[in-house]
Amino acid sequence: MSRSAELAAIVRDRAGAAPVSHGLILGSGLGHLAAAVEGVAIDYADLPGFPRAGVSGHTPTLAVGTLEGVRVAVFGGRAHYYESGKADAMRLPLETLKALGADRLIVTNAAGSLRPGMPPGSLMLLSDHINFSGLNPLIGEPSDARFVPMTEAHDATMRARLRAAAGAEGVDLAEGIYAWYSGPSFETPAEIRAIRTLGADAVGMSTVPEVILARFLGLKVAAVSVVTNMAAGMSDEKISHEHTKAMAPLGAAKLERVLRRYLRDLD
Ligand code: HPA
Repeated sequence: MSRSAELAAIVRDRAGAAPVSHGLILGSGLGHLAAAVEGVAIDYADLPGFPRAGVSGHTPTLAVGTLEGVRVAVFGGRAHYYESGKADAMRLPLETLKALGADRLIVTNAAGSLRPGMPPGSLMLLSDHINFSGLNPLIGEPSDARFVPMTEAHDATMRARLRAAAGAEGVDLAEGIYAWYSGPSFETPAEIRAIRTLGADAVGMSTVPEVILARFLGLKVAAVSVVTNMAAGMSDEKISHEHTKAMAPLGAAKLERVLRRYLRDLD
């Protein structure tokens, strides 16, 4: 049995055998949605091979159950490339998600804004991304499946549904390009000017490897950023992880409404 099949069996044992429809990955300061799931929360520590989510502001549990009537698996924390030097740190969790039956994934993150009109507290739906890190979670994957097309990586139907959910909730949802910067140091103002020139609207240290892995595994995927700060050099505010965690709740409540509405309105 593959490792993901074994992990899925552990999850089914605890959470029941009904197939999961959607996976959700929660970003920094956004973990509380996991607690809203009606079902069970499994510590990553009970899932051999799952990352030890070591970043404060993340909750290392997998919540499996029902949210707004939809069977979901919510990852309360993620592993970042910068924790281990492994860009594929979320591969086993996403393989497990797929083994649980999911075909869709929604990724959330905290991000810095490169758009003056998109201040902290804003939500941004990713229309596309720039892999500015040059890293890739599929390096070392031997099969030809590694040559994943990324032309329409961010699923059009899921994005339309997220837009509609935001509209129905009266929540502003910007749309733009997210650039993945490896971290853990924040960017310099010169780096931010560079990626602005390249077309980025937001910057962060996650999400892109998960989108690549999701497409590799055949999962449809969409992602939403919660803006926690203006990117380096764009405002006088000091950038820090503390600030990220403190500002995430500003957008998190709106994000929760959008995600709940999205799930409720699925048919
Ligand atoms: N840069 C990178 N990652 C981030 C930022 C940022 O400004 N804010 C939150 N995550």
